[in-house]
Amino acid sequence: AIDPNFENTHEEVDRHEDHRVWTTDGEEPTEDKQGIHGTHVAVDFDICIADGACLEDCPVDVFEWTDTPDHPESEIKADPTYEDQCIDCMLCVDVCPVDAIDVDPG
Ligand code: SF4
Ligand code: F3S
Ligand code: ZN
Repeated sequence: AIDPNFENTHEEVDRHEDHRVWTTDGEEPTEDKQGIHGTHVAVDFDICIADGACLEDCPVDVFEWTDTPDHPESEIKADPTYEDQCIDCMLCVDVCPVDAIDVDPG
């Protein structure tokens, strides 16, 4: 499962669209090791298997697919592009079969 304490255990290394990207070792993401995208709504790309339930169920369409060619778990990931619109309903957290998502109402 995604580490809910990722803001302390990971380092912000990059930005993607308008959101942060975090990795454990402070190194830039690689094809195999993508890290976590987002902060308020955070998705661990190394855990996401592209199930799609989060995209289908989010009432305010926070997520969109992004390509991660050659990643071992899946070649697309749910990216929290519109995390600023999140209403903290927690549906995505509940429906993700691999617990790849953390939502922190802050
Ligand atoms: Fe969407 Fe609710 Fe998840 Fe926020 S908590 S990203 S509103 S499903
Ligand atoms: Fe990925 Fe979980 Fe969504 S596997 S596509 S974050 S439901
Ligand atoms: Zn992203």
